[in-house]
Amino acid sequence: MVSFVGFSNYLLGSQIIPLQLCCADQLGRISGTTMAMGTRSRHPKSLALRCYAASHRSLTLLVWSLAALVILLNFHLLTTGTHREDLSSRAHEIHRSIVRELEEVEEEMFQVKPARSRRNPRAVRRKGEHSKPHSVVDEFLDESSAVHDMFFPETAMDPVHGGNDSMYFYHPGRVWLDTDGKPIQAHGGGVLYDEKTETYYWYGENKDGKTYKAHTKGADRVDIVGVSCYSSKDLWAWKNEGVVLRGEVKNVTHDLYKSNVLERPKVIYNDQTSKYVMWMHIDDTNYTKASVGVAVSNSPTGPFSYLYSKRPHDCESRDMTIFKDDNGKAYLIYSSEDNSELHIGELTDDYLDVTNDMRSFLIAQHREAPALFKFEGVYYMITSGCTSWAPNTALAHAATSIMGPWETLGNPCVGGNDIFRSTTFFSQSTFVVPLPGLRGSFIFMADRWNPSELRDSRYVWLPLTVGGLPDEAADYSFMFPLWPRVSIYWHRRWRLPEGWTDS
Ligand code: GAL
Repeated sequence: MVSFVGFSNYLLGSQIIPLQLCCADQLGRISGTTMAMGTRSRHPKSLALRCYAASHRSLTLLVWSLAALVILLNFHLLTTGTHREDLSSRAHEIHRSIVRELEEVEEEMFQVKPARSRRNPRAVRRKGEHSKPHSVVDEFLDESSAVHDMFFPETAMDPVHGGNDSMYFYHPGRVWLDTDGKPIQAHGGGVLYDEKTETYYWYGENKDGKTYKAHTKGADRVDIVGVSCYSSKDLWAWKNEGVVLRGEVKNVTHDLYKSNVLERPKVIYNDQTSKYVMWMHIDDTNYTKASVGVAVSNSPTGPFSYLYSKRPHDCESRDMTIFKDDNGKAYLIYSSEDNSELHIGELTDDYLDVTNDMRSFLIAQHREAPALFKFEGVYYMITSGCTSWAPNTALAHAATSIMGPWETLGNPCVGGNDIFRSTTFFSQSTFVVPLPGLRGSFIFMADRWNPSELRDSRYVWLPLTVGGLPDEAADYSFMFPLWPRVSIYWHRRWRLPEGWTDS
């Protein structure tokens, strides 16, 4: 605003100056003529001279009127500019105070006591009586430890029976019940806002099966159940819309055969074909197929028809996401080359395939679980390290062009304590949801995986803001922050401030 007012004054100023110069020039010539006229005053004035005098008077009038107009215009612009500036700074203040709530830094006094008193008999059988976890993360993953219990509490977020005091409060890590009172099964998921139905849809892996290891050294897994879908108007109370893409129980050659892998499903809407398009990670039990799968539906609540799987750009693809830009172009982002780098490629116009254009980035950085979002023309991404179900440190990245170059900003996690910040609050990124009414504010969606009982993995939803804490930007050049800071704030309990939705 300030620059707008400054700019208009400058423009006016530059008009005033030539105008005044022009007036002075005119007046100079006119007064020269008047002096000449004075010397001849004893003689009757010729018609031409009388006309000249009249035009002199009207020109003077015109000049003064113009000058007055310019002064008035300047004054008007100054006052309305100041008014607009007032309004915008007031709006900014309100916005800041709303967002401040989200940006409160909450410390955690959590102490790590290797409490070995209460041991789960199943864990003892699996790991042996004397097995000792080594680190906090080991404790967290060990279902017999008190640390594990602390991060997987039995308490639930219940949108139906929770009572007024708990309305709209997110409790990261608690069991999250749907509107039927059942735990939400939408892991590694993403959220689509559907403009037609003005509804949010949350898609994710339904992991409601038995956790087992296919091989002694393999990762814990559950058989494919399918992709669940939940709907909500407020991003808090979710109605189960069922399994919208089912696993295959009979055909062993099918990509979705239960012993294979279906992870990280994401859905976007194609405006040209009016189809909802789902992309997902498709793999075999040993994660060697490393492909993406595509499914399509006429409705956000499915059913989705599975189309095919492939290796995009003939490259391995494991953890992945898709991103639809403001201009309708969409992109696939995936971990490749043994998860050592990320790839990005544009989708075809119908979103059913990738085009040939692909760029590699964050090479040799070993990042996965990409979650992309955009703010004020800049693309941001949160990624995790590659440590299977174990939590690790998140990183934020930014780029002015989605195809890169991408730069790494640093760890976005704020609050909690060191171990919280270095483990992404004991979770792994999956998606970032824009909050349309709060510029620069988003929900960071992450999974707190429970490898001993994957169906009981939890959700960690926290506020993410871009541009907060300018003095603590994650990346500097010559002491100046290079990018706005991306921050994810730890909260034990938080809710969306009023006005988060612009409807
Ligand atoms: C993680 C990945 C998850 C899942 C898991 C299996 O690295 O982010 O989506 O694939 O490994 O071990």
